[in-house]
Amino acid sequence: MNEKTQVGIIGAGPAGLLLSHLLHLQGIDSVILEARSRKYVEDRVRAGVLEQGTVDLLCDTGLGDRLRREGLVHQGIELRFDGRSHRIALSDLTGGRSIWIYGQREVVKDLIDARLEANGSILFEVDDVKLSGIDSSSPVLNYQKDGRDYELNCDFIAGCDGFHGVSRKSIPAGVLRTYHHVYPFGWLGILVAVPPSTEELIYAYHERGFALHSLRSPEISRLYLQVEPGEDSNNWPDDRIWQELSIRMATDDGWTLKTGPILEKGITPMQSFVVEPMQYGSLFLAGDAAHIVPATGAKGLNLAVHDVHKLAEALIAWFSRGTEELLKQYSANCLDRVWRVQDFSSFMSLMLHRYFDDDGFRGRLQRAQLKYVCSSDAASRSLAENYVGLPHV
Ligand code: APR
Ligand code: PHB
Repeated sequence: MNEKTQVGIIGAGPAGLLLSHLLHLQGIDSVILEARSRKYVEDRVRAGVLEQGTVDLLCDTGLGDRLRREGLVHQGIELRFDGRSHRIALSDLTGGRSIWIYGQREVVKDLIDARLEANGSILFEVDDVKLSGIDSSSPVLNYQKDGRDYELNCDFIAGCDGFHGVSRKSIPAGVLRTYHHVYPFGWLGILVAVPPSTEELIYAYHERGFALHSLRSPEISRLYLQVEPGEDSNNWPDDRIWQELSIRMATDDGWTLKTGPILEKGITPMQSFVVEPMQYGSLFLAGDAAHIVPATGAKGLNLAVHDVHKLAEALIAWFSRGTEELLKQYSANCLDRVWRVQDFSSFMSLMLHRYFDDDGFRGRLQRAQLKYVCSSDAASRSLAENYVGLPHV
């Protein structure tokens, strides 16, 4: 079966879905091919912090209804160490910008609803997606659905298929330069049916390891613990998790952590990954397909949104005015922000995690940095402007 579209998109994560939505608003046709089911994609528990610029983009493009109703605006975060909390006043330090708590799965649900309402084409549960002709101006996507073979002829392909996807691997050997750094720690994350024990996110540095208290809603908390990189979550029965969280987050003034039923438990490795360039011929990579950041800066989703914003602009310029300039600049424009965010995420990660092979030196540096960030206006302003997200340019 032969079909045709202007932009063939691989992956129905936030990157692929938002790209399809932005193109549709300018009358550009796309088809999304997704390996998993709709339910799987919508239920996947992921990040939950949206930068101001991400929220603005979603609201400006008609995706803000539920986000404005249910999203929680946060104007600060806490850094906690040595039994004390220090507030970083994000909004005061950044001329009024804030972050929003709204789960990635809610963003994905809103996007899928918007695409389907507009008769957008999202094909779930497709198998064996293959790219060909990406070095030409008529690339092709072959795939299987319900046991039948299909061919989708495209003007461009957007590889939005995440870190393990097929699109990056379809670029010939020798074209991409890869940067990969694996941090010597992982995160054990839990989703809990209990009201958050805090109003703002708490990033805690402790000699037993990092801990983070986040949330999803007034009824649902999201917490993380630093663990060994290849840790098995079976080594972490619920009691052990709660005990460790209470120790690492304890304060001198008797703050208490509310516990509740754990709905979900998972381990995430901490790594930085970037490929350069983010384009080859008529294939453009966006989101996790091109880069991964350690979760400490809460940037993965926001970076994916920035990529597709740039890619949509470039494709719109091409289809509506025939100009190639922005497509040519796509990779360089994205990589500037990718490396800024890598640097920030690495800074947060190195400041907050315990290195278990530390002879004491690194710990002293971390304390010095934490104290500086919490006491110097310049240092806390720098953290704040990166955390709320630099403006999209
Ligand atoms: N064929 C079709 N679909 C695929 C294939 C394939 N071969 N491989 C992967 N996919 C799909 C996955 O099932 C997934 O739904 O591509 C999608 C990629 O989505 P994400 O992993 O969410 O990546 P992205 O859209 O770039 O979003 C980045 O997700 O991982 C978080 O922290 C990250 O928040 C960031 C965001
Ligand atoms: C989350 O809520 O999942 C979250 C929050 C902050 C982070 C990482 C993850 O830095």
